[in-house]
Amino acid sequence: MKTIAVIAVMGGALLACGGGGGPGAAAPGAPEPTTFAEQVAVGQKLYGENCAGCHGDGGEGSAKVPRLVGLDKGALPLDAAASAARKVSFKTAADVGAWAAKNMPPNQGGSLKEWEYWAIVAFDLKANGVTLDKKVDAASGKDVVLHK
Ligand code: HEC
Repeated sequence: MKTIAVIAVMGGALLACGGGGGPGAAAPGAPEPTTFAEQVAVGQKLYGENCAGCHGDGGEGSAKVPRLVGLDKGALPLDAAASAARKVSFKTAADVGAWAAKNMPPNQGGSLKEWEYWAIVAFDLKANGVTLDKKVDAASGKDVVLHK
């Protein structure tokens, strides 16, 4: 049984990323979300367009692609299998977002805007039963502990 502790986030810097559209961008001109709830809504769409094809509509994964939803079923483990490309540990949501932004989709890391990756992380957290009272980003994500 894994423990998720969502610790109240301290006032932190929000990432300010404007301009520059990535190829997988949401609706053209879609505004950057300002709340966690908005991130979830935008993230759901972005996830469907950029990630669901491999990770499954419900984040259930497949024989070859890891699940992203279902922490009780082993989603987002601290460490990936020895054979996996991921070598970093997922201690917090910040680790997940930073790794995904660099490496996902495979060989197309960085193809979405930074804030779009965080919106997808918000959607994934929500799907895993985690709700935050502020936006998730590289700073606030450190307080979302997935594994001690
Ligand atoms: C072409 C298929 C494909 C697409 C599209 C894809 N992924 Fe992945 N994803 C994978 C595979 C394969 C792995 C396992 C990589 C490894 O060996 O560590 C993975 C791993 C991950 C992991 C780490 C899971 C773990 O348990 O180690 C995360 C997080 C993730 N993907 C997020 C995303 C997000 C977010 C998107 C959309 C922006 C995305 N992926 C799009 C195939 C895909």
